[in-house]
Amino acid sequence: MASLSFILICCILLIISPNILIKAQQPYIRKWNTNCSIRNASTSVLGYACNGVNQTCQAYLTFRSKPPYNTVVSISNLLNANSTQLSQLNSVSETFTFGTGETVLVPARCSCLGQFYQANATYVIQSGDTPFLIANDTFGGLSTCHAIQAERSNLTVNIYPGSRLTVPLRCACPTEKQAAAGVRYLLSYLITWGQYISTISAKFGTDTGLTLEANELSEQDSNIYPFTTLLVPLSNPPSRSQTIAPPPPPATPPPPSSSAPGGGATSGNDHKWVYMIVGVLGGVALTFAIGLCVFWFFFLKRKKMTPPMISSASQSFEATEKPGDKKLDVDEESEFMESLSNIAQSLKVYKFDELKSATKDFSPNCLIKGSVYQGTINGDLVAIKKMHGDVSNEIQLLNTIHHHNLICLSGVCFSDGHWYLVYEFAVNGALSDWIYYNALSSNKSLNWMQRIQIALDVANGLDYLHSYTTPPYVYKNLESSNILLDSDFRAKITNFDLARSAEGQEGHFAMTRHIVGTRGYMSPEYLENGLISTKLDVYGFGVLLLEIVTGKHVSDLCEKVNRNLSEVLCDVLVEENTDKNEKLTDFVDHRLQGNYPLQLAMTVVKLIDGCLDKDPSARPDMNEVSQCLSRILTTSQATDLSLTISVQGR
Ligand SMILES: *[C@@H]1O[C@H](CO)[C@@H](O)[C@H](O)[C@H]1NC(C)=O
Ligand SMILES: *[C@@H]1O[C@H](CO)[C@@H](O)[C@H](O)[C@H]1NC(C)=O
Ligand SMILES: *[C@@H]1O[C@H](CO)[C@@H](O)[C@H](O)[C@H]1NC(C)=O
Ligand SMILES: *[C@@H]1O[C@H](CO)[C@@H](O)[C@H](O)[C@H]1NC(C)=O
Ligand SMILES: *[C@@H]1O[C@H](CO)[C@@H](O)[C@H](O)[C@H]1NC(C)=O
Ligand SMILES: *[C@@H]1O[C@H](CO)[C@@H](O)[C@H](O)[C@H]1NC(C)=O
Ligand SMILES: *[C@@H]1O[C@H](CO)[C@@H](O)[C@H](O)[C@H]1NC(C)=O
Repeated sequence: MASLSFILICCILLIISPNILIKAQQPYIRKWNTNCSIRNASTSVLGYACNGVNQTCQAYLTFRSKPPYNTVVSISNLLNANSTQLSQLNSVSETFTFGTGETVLVPARCSCLGQFYQANATYVIQSGDTPFLIANDTFGGLSTCHAIQAERSNLTVNIYPGSRLTVPLRCACPTEKQAAAGVRYLLSYLITWGQYISTISAKFGTDTGLTLEANELSEQDSNIYPFTTLLVPLSNPPSRSQTIAPPPPPATPPPPSSSAPGGGATSGNDHKWVYMIVGVLGGVALTFAIGLCVFWFFFLKRKKMTPPMISSASQSFEATEKPGDKKLDVDEESEFMESLSNIAQSLKVYKFDELKSATKDFSPNCLIKGSVYQGTINGDLVAIKKMHGDVSNEIQLLNTIHHHNLICLSGVCFSDGHWYLVYEFAVNGALSDWIYYNALSSNKSLNWMQRIQIALDVANGLDYLHSYTTPPYVYKNLESSNILLDSDFRAKITNFDLARSAEGQEGHFAMTRHIVGTRGYMSPEYLENGLISTKLDVYGFGVLLLEIVTGKHVSDLCEKVNRNLSEVLCDVLVEENTDKNEKLTDFVDHRLQGNYPLQLAMTVVKLIDGCLDKDPSARPDMNEVSQCLSRILTTSQATDLSLTISVQGR
């Protein structure tokens, strides 16, 4: 009897021993991330404690794809991950677009900073952001408002739109106990609705008990909440097969290609089978679709689009008849369109008829300018641009980059040898309609703050192109007619057909052609030697800012005085000038009637001067420009406020 109970006790001890013997690891955050004003020190709201064997380690994160962060490139940029590694880890190409809500695996370098582990991401603050929105909505819970605030107070970073913030992502390195159990990596898994620790663990082939311990949880206390991270101990790097099947929870409809064969028939306890079949068939269908698309792209480029040419926005609308015999028949065309939409999932592929009814059959009444039409689709205003030639540059670029200050391409249509690109509509039209002083636009004018905000928006958009895309892009096409204004007079850069990878080769064709178009905006080194770098855009930006501030077209500024641009600024900038303020007032757009802080106007002039420097390397980069403008805007706001108050006080 005694020996029996001894054996029993031994068994019980053996069963529960891991839970008792292995020391607690990292406390689960529970709901402590939701209230930014409570900082409970005994939870992991500030990050996971540095209790690992190593100070630095390879870690993994998961992220839920959500436009604009739904491509390999945009997610890598957001989370500061290596896009090559990210695409390999997820077994997809570097240009892949993930479906909304899909789980994306992200490699991260995790290191101990002070008391907590973190992986650094850099984020450019958008207007309306709060630490909570950044942590929960943008980063999906990979960071917390508490951690962001802690980072900020230590660094005294400005939190106005356009400034950069280091966002500490939650990661951890294995503890000694975990290492002893064969754990080599910790995955910060983002929990979503309706998940359990057991299912998450099973996905990654990890023992549930191990996961519970890693998060200081137990069977009895195993509640987890969406938008928080759960540490999943792994002995091998995670792989895509662990994240794609089963498909993300209810709501999201299954992709069209895979729904037909697998769906419906089976139910209940056979779920695994359904998922497997759907997964396999879906994979086959996807591979097939990608192959088809690649094939068609190649076909189109070869057969229809030769000779490839750089299409220009100012291209006039030509009613040329279709090129003829080699036309795709309707079936092939729709097939191509479907496969395109599989790759570019954020792009809608429109039927030509839809665009026809949106623009009342491309009626002249809907013509905005050149070959751009205004249309209404599902009650939303859109701009539809008809293009010839090779538009893959613009489609590819706009499909991979997403930024509030770059125009959003929402859909495409291909019909009769023409491309139609559908963009978001900017109600207030082009900046060129607003800034120049002439009789036609005399009743249109922008105030000082609107002008600085527009400049800042453009600078942020360019900074994004230069520093947050891989490869970096040079926009090359800066001019006031390529900046559109939305209903709040916030700027969006459009016309990306000339944008080039900063590393790529440049054809002389595009160069000469372009110089004709936008004389005055081009930097000297480009005009003289065809040199292309991001500093080309900085020069163009200097010219644009000059126009914004003076209200005059660059050609008027140069030609009337018959000298080069930087000399135009001399009068204002010469230190000895006693009538400097007078010169400055004369220089700035008269329509502003002195309603701006003189001191700041001078700062703007100095910024323009820096951007127009003959030596490209002496020009600031767009990030510096945007920080400078951001400061000017904040100070202008403060000045404006005090002006209003003092006027009211009188
Ligand atoms: C956060 O906690 C504070 C202090 O307990 C409380 O006053 C506040 O209402 C809470 N805020 C939210 C959004 O729950
Ligand atoms: C902090 O969190 C722990 C664990 O969730 C909880 O037991 C404790 O009561 C919390 N402390 C405070 C002050 O709220
Ligand atoms: C990204 O990872 C690849 C493969 O590991 C490596 O060759 C490349 O140098 C890395 N790029 C950067 C910018 O670290
Ligand atoms: C992360 O950022 C902090 C400051 O924001 C810095 O001190 C630390 O060195 C960075 N860590 C890495 C690995 O770059
Ligand atoms: C956190 O973000 C998600 C979307 O990413 C949203 O559904 C949820 O409501 C947010 N949580 C809170 C408390 O706002
Ligand atoms: C911030 O600074 C305080 C001391 O000034 C330090 O105790 C704390 O660890 C720092 N936080 C981070 C996240 O570096
Ligand atoms: C700690 O670092 C060493 C040397 O880089 C490595 O060999 C070891 O596997 C690491 N341990 C853990 C648990 O990651």
